[in-house]
Amino acid sequence: MLYAATRQYLDGATWPINCLDIGTAKGFSALCLRWAINDAGRTGEVVSVDVLDPWARVARNTVAEVDGLETLAELLAPWPAAKAIRFERSTGLDWLERHAWRIHVAFVDGAHTSHVVRREGALLAKCQAPGDLVIFDDVQIAEVSIAVASLLDLYRIEYLEVLPSRQYALAVRR
Ligand SMILES: C[S@@+](CC[C@H](N)C(=O)[O-])C[C@H]1O[C@@H](n2cnc3c(N)ncnc32)[C@H](O)[C@@H]1O
Repeated sequence: MLYAATRQYLDGATWPINCLDIGTAKGFSALCLRWAINDAGRTGEVVSVDVLDPWARVARNTVAEVDGLETLAELLAPWPAAKAIRFERSTGLDWLERHAWRIHVAFVDGAHTSHVVRREGALLAKCQAPGDLVIFDDVQIAEVSIAVASLLDLYRIEYLEVLPSRQYALAVRR
């Protein structure tokens, strides 16, 4: 879904794009953003932030660590595209408060509390122009759903239910 939405966004954009992934974990969503840019033959930056230190051997919720914990670089070694992703240790909010770059596409999958998701959405809106995207994961969680609904004045929102227990929101900046 993230890959497809980013590819579709790139169809209408001729400029290099900046992507922000909030909640790196094992790096899958960051890779989807990176692959979308690469496969479209375009240029752009992907920054991925997590409260977990990318250089630490900590649990990142993946079967790949069944034989032992790995750093993010070790986990992602089989996927060379990951080398072009900037991984940083930060909360989404801290990162957004420190940077004022244009963020063309963002994926929000870090803290799943209403206060944090709402504030991440409001800060992202300041870095975006009409038509830019934010994809919210886990909208089946009540706190995330409340936060996303509070952003209706800033974003046009389409809900995508991929499984009964898994919902995304595709938010397009007004
Ligand atoms: C559901 S996982 C993300 C999965 C990831 N998007 C992927 O595709 O593999 C949530 C991650 O968010 C991180 N996290 C929790 N609170 C956060 C925050 N405030 N800012 C950034 N990351 C956060 C957690 O450490 C965890 O690794």
